[in-house]
Amino acid sequence: MKKIISIFTLIAIVIACKHTILEPGTVGNSGGGTGGGSSTPTDSICFQTEILPMYQSYCASAGCHNSTSRADGIVLVDYTTIMQGIIPGNPTNSKYFKIITNNKMPPAGSPQLSATQIALIQKWITLGALNNTCPTGCDTSKFTYTSAVQTIFANSCNGCHGNAPGSGNVYLGTYASSQAYISANTTLFLKAINHDATLPAIQRMPQGTKMSDCNIKIITKWINAGMPK
Ligand code: HEC
Repeated sequence: MKKIISIFTLIAIVIACKHTILEPGTVGNSGGGTGGGSSTPTDSICFQTEILPMYQSYCASAGCHNSTSRADGIVLVDYTTIMQGIIPGNPTNSKYFKIITNNKMPPAGSPQLSATQIALIQKWITLGALNNTCPTGCDTSKFTYTSAVQTIFANSCNGCHGNAPGSGNVYLGTYASSQAYISANTTLFLKAINHDATLPAIQRMPQGTKMSDCNIKIITKWINAGMPK
């Protein structure tokens, strides 16, 4: 009973605080899965499209915290496993957040999460660490590298492809490197992000969960337009 009450209290607090905690123009949804979808409210963080891709990309690569490698017994592949180290409303005491902020993870030499990405995770925990998917109006009107694609790569790909030479020798850490790789391998790239059935599972990107249709559309539009910066 106590637990039920505390859950309701927490929900009430989250609802009550929503509009005071978050001011428009902060990290909000622009950091994430919708490519800056303007129709999603800026006062909620979407776990499935904004937070999960970062944990999968920066923590769950082969040899680390995916379901087969389980480094240190830790798996970070979905909501249930990530919540083993998250305390809703309490980022400071959340193990799987603290370890990122004290520079222990990802390990030195691996691509690191940016301050913006860390702030987004913090905000998600502060707002109750919900397992939510935001109903997105898919906004594909912004599809240049700096307005959309860069953030998608940063969140969904660069835990593995953010430091040269990158997993599978694919380095997506800069505009120039992304542009060069994709120009030379356009068909393969598009197949990989569409999880094309003709590719072996290991080459479907990101490995594991496919990106949102919206993000795939944005990247495809960007490529078809000649990859504008
Ligand atoms: C968890 C780690 C991880 C993430 C996240 C990831 N990749 Fe990869 N990627 C790999 C590995 C490992 C390979 C090499 C696969 C192989 O053995 O061929 C690879 C290969 C590729 C390839 C070459 C395909 C091929 O023939 O091998 C492309 C293109 C690619 N990734 C694009 C992406 C894009 C775009 C994203 C983000 C949307 C992404 N990857 C996210 C690990 C990752």
